[in-house]
Amino acid sequence: MLSCSLLYAVLRVAAMTTQVGYTMQLTPILNVQLTDEMIPAISKLVCYMPKEVSLENHELQMRLILWYLDPQNLVKDISQILQDTVGRPFICLNEELFENVEWRSIIICLAFSPLMFIETRALLHRWFLLTGLASVLELEVELVSMVLDILLRPMWWGLSAEIGSKLPFSCAYFLFKHQLFRILARPLSCDRFLELVHNIKKSVSHSKRKLKHAATTNSMVDHKSAWAMAMNFPDWFYFAALVLSGASFSDSNICEVNEDNQPLTSSFVANAAWYIAWILDPIDESVCSLLAERLENLSRALTNKQLNSCVHNKLKKPKPSTCQSQTIQIWLEELEDVKSIDVKNNVMFRRIILGMLIGCSDAIDENGYELLLHYVATGMLLQSTESQYVGFKHKRWNHEFLDKCSRKEPITGACIVFSLTDIAEKISDAVSETREIAVDFICKVKLKVVGYLLKCVRRLLQFENGENNVILVKDLHRRMLRWRHQGKDVFHGYKDIDDTLNVMTSKLS
Ligand SMILES: *[C@@H]1O[C@H](CO)[C@@H](O)[C@H](O)[C@H]1NC(C)=O
Repeated sequence: MLSCSLLYAVLRVAAMTTQVGYTMQLTPILNVQLTDEMIPAISKLVCYMPKEVSLENHELQMRLILWYLDPQNLVKDISQILQDTVGRPFICLNEELFENVEWRSIIICLAFSPLMFIETRALLHRWFLLTGLASVLELEVELVSMVLDILLRPMWWGLSAEIGSKLPFSCAYFLFKHQLFRILARPLSCDRFLELVHNIKKSVSHSKRKLKHAATTNSMVDHKSAWAMAMNFPDWFYFAALVLSGASFSDSNICEVNEDNQPLTSSFVANAAWYIAWILDPIDESVCSLLAERLENLSRALTNKQLNSCVHNKLKKPKPSTCQSQTIQIWLEELEDVKSIDVKNNVMFRRIILGMLIGCSDAIDENGYELLLHYVATGMLLQSTESQYVGFKHKRWNHEFLDKCSRKEPITGACIVFSLTDIAEKISDAVSETREIAVDFICKVKLKVVGYLLKCVRRLLQFENGENNVILVKDLHRRMLRWRHQGKDVFHGYKDIDDTLNVMTSKLS
């Protein structure tokens, strides 16, 4: 107890004499060089930090002071979270950030200090621009949403009402594009979506005008840009993909109408296509508009099919589902041939498909889902479901090679199913008038993907037990149980799921 207060006092004195000099700067200061004498002194102090983390006020403050003393301490904390999340693909990030006491204390510190929050967002954004890794982006998105959650309900996070009431307003955390932030942070709806696109178009043309003679386009994508802000709220991206697939929304009556009071769906689709294209390529205007046009064409093909071909196919046993997933597949194949568009390695590109799978859940059957989910997971299109497992039967390869190359795919596949369901859950309220309809909406998607999920999980379970594998299976087991109850549990008497869960339990015991 005594040593703790002593340490705290020492830290405060150190902080008062620090040379880093934090002010509300407009550029990230994480790359500040500290003087050589300071670093060993600070790392000596870090050794005295209590190893057992708790959520005591004192310890939170000490962590914050350490971040102030040496920004590298913040970098270390954030990269530790990142490393752990990359190594454990099946954890549910937002639950884990709350339940893991150390992580929770980091998030609370970020909420206590808007400056550190800004630094962290800038840091993760820079890492994302450098690596293009989905895991970096996901962590950034989750950190932003958790800190906003603390501002919204501090007591749920274990803070006292007094401290909660002293937390700053959101504008302190988002110095740039705060107006855009306020639109993005609201619940999804059609009219807000149109407002969002309008706002972004204005902001983009404004910064283009400023850029006219500048040599760099960096400012279009840096941490202060509208694009960086939009990337933190990916639900709007999926919402736009849902619009393209012709989904109807509970508030679509508010959408723009023409003189005869008919909804201007074409302008709505055009805005959705533009938004997706802009997220994929915020810099090159010509690529963006070409992509937007292609997306509009895809949307036309999808919505026409829904209306037409399914009607005149009625005589010979309609199979609307295959035509829907084929439409998307053909579109993907055509896009691969276009030289001027190179989006295949873009993190967000394959995720358009996730939004469409949710939007077309009535019109795509299980096989269609499987083919497209496989595409999202691997970037490869298959001709039929069968061929996917052919390679697996050939045991000509040496075992280790097979182990390595085929292990990644079922992991990614299962993760995609979990995120698809999470997205459906987040979007469900915007497309449903009542809670019951929203639950049905989620369950419809779950029933379509359960087959693919089980295939992935079974393949994963065939691999031998290693220590890493135990953690993996433990996380997967927990995630499967959570998934099963999302929306509601529609798998009563579904022997395949029970069996798979039992296999996992037996591997863990
Ligand atoms: C979109 O469809 C229209 C009409 O079918 C066609 O003329 C146009 O070339 C298509 N655009 C792209 C980029 O494929």
